[in-house]
Amino acid sequence: MGKQNDGKWWKRAVIYQIYPRSFADSNGDGIGDLQGIISKLDYLERLGIDAIWLSPVCRSPQDDNGYDISDYQDIDPMFGTLEDMEQLIAEAGRRQIRIILDLVLNHSSDEHRWFREAKKGRENPYHDYYVWRDGVEGQLPNDMRAAFGGPAWEWVPELGQYYFHQFSVKQPDLNWENPRLRREIYDMINWWTGKGVGGFRLDVIDQIAKDPDRKITGNGPRLHEFIRELSAETFQKADLVTVGEAWGATTELAKLYSNPDNSELSMVFQFEHICLDQVAGGEKWDLAPLPFRRLKEVFARWQVELHNKGWNSLFWNNHDLPRIVSRWGNDGEYRVKSAKMLAMLLHGMQGTPYIYQGEELGMTNVAFGIEEYRDIETRNLYRERLEKGYGEAEILASIHARSRDNARTPMQWDAGEHAGFTEGTPWIKVNPNYRQIHAAGQMEDPDSVFGCYRQLIRLRKEYGVFTDGDFQMLLPEDEAIFAYTRTNEDSQLLVVCNFYGRTVEDPLVEMEDSADLLLTNAENGGERQLLEPYEARMYLKTGGMLSQKEKHL
Ligand code: GLC
Ligand code: CA
Repeated sequence: MGKQNDGKWWKRAVIYQIYPRSFADSNGDGIGDLQGIISKLDYLERLGIDAIWLSPVCRSPQDDNGYDISDYQDIDPMFGTLEDMEQLIAEAGRRQIRIILDLVLNHSSDEHRWFREAKKGRENPYHDYYVWRDGVEGQLPNDMRAAFGGPAWEWVPELGQYYFHQFSVKQPDLNWENPRLRREIYDMINWWTGKGVGGFRLDVIDQIAKDPDRKITGNGPRLHEFIRELSAETFQKADLVTVGEAWGATTELAKLYSNPDNSELSMVFQFEHICLDQVAGGEKWDLAPLPFRRLKEVFARWQVELHNKGWNSLFWNNHDLPRIVSRWGNDGEYRVKSAKMLAMLLHGMQGTPYIYQGEELGMTNVAFGIEEYRDIETRNLYRERLEKGYGEAEILASIHARSRDNARTPMQWDAGEHAGFTEGTPWIKVNPNYRQIHAAGQMEDPDSVFGCYRQLIRLRKEYGVFTDGDFQMLLPEDEAIFAYTRTNEDSQLLVVCNFYGRTVEDPLVEMEDSADLLLTNAENGGERQLLEPYEARMYLKTGGMLSQKEKHL
């Protein structure tokens, strides 16, 4: 066993993210729910995943689709009941699938009991659970802005104070400086652990240690102190996986977060690769072409620097990001091929891969008119940019490329009405391409995108080199090919991908000749000396095939 095969189950695992509102609706109200998820567990078992990360299902007024929690220890009636959750944990467990919950600890809903109490008076014991500043109406404490638009301060006339919110006005920030708040959070987490969950995803965890007077939101001075206490009081008591969402993580910080000594978290989601195709200094809406060699440099750096010193998460997609096949692949002629290429490129790397619902089918972005969008961020952006004088076409182009609703259209189960997602009216429109792209058409087809993901998961389980091999980037200067090796004591994995839609010569043929082909997305074997549009190949060399030099002892 290599150093990184240290028995941690989540190092060999593949995790599947479900956005519950959009996954499967069991009762015809147009909103996905827990019973819907239970009804699809066989599908997930067939795919082969080890755990499900559920976006929030706790009680919430749904201002930000559940990322505004009003009761951390209850299920929102829209999704079901606590009993449904217990049933989900049990039924998934029977299939060796663990359930990972989304913990939103940076803020609560303004409808949470704590906040309602906090507003009653400065002397109320819950007042200090939130972040307040004295002031005068109309004179904000400072010019900080909220992520979903507008100022980060909201006036409460009864108190003569402002509260701080990094997200919407209905998401007041929690004050982690308060030890009683922290204790309540730990008790709540331990209560969920007692219910048998397999781990937690920690929403915007790098923003909990804020210091608004110094305009600090991410990576505040006490951040790692807070996380270590949180971890010691909760996660370390059980065999859990934890993944923190950390937009501001660098490789240095990620080594702290995912230190193999287990003092903080299992891993973080970092977004360096995902932010490459936007205008420097701009927002995600300010579109720029992907700098391909930078992408390779970023991946290589994370792979090499965290090897034996931390742990990576691997992802292209989540509920906040556009669909990768539309973004960096090709969702027209080469949809299937490019979706498989992107999957192979990512799943050969070191770390824990995350698959976002529908990614395994090659689901694509949508291009709705503004009235069809439901996301608070998208709607606010539209309004703000119109006011600033942007043209409507330009704003819509940004929304079509980057809106979070690209990922939130209903899961496409079959070619029936509303893609088999609901018997009612879906809360958001189904992508019109559901008659061509759906699970029913792919589940039994080994050549489908689903078939490719299934194979990749199987390979990761079969060959230890996926987990512990070290990473070496090949052809870093090449303008079209993304190729690398992963090597451990007894084998070497070689991944060769043509990232673009033009045929290129393959400079690695010789290396490939001395290895066994594990997986390819080429329809008929392909032309050996060439890499056709979006062609990807995965090879394995074992034992005697490895030269002395290639062996890493
Ligand atoms: C995270 C979530 C996002 C949410 C935000 C505020 O970034 O992924 O969906 O809106 O935090 O909770
Ligand atoms: Ca429902």
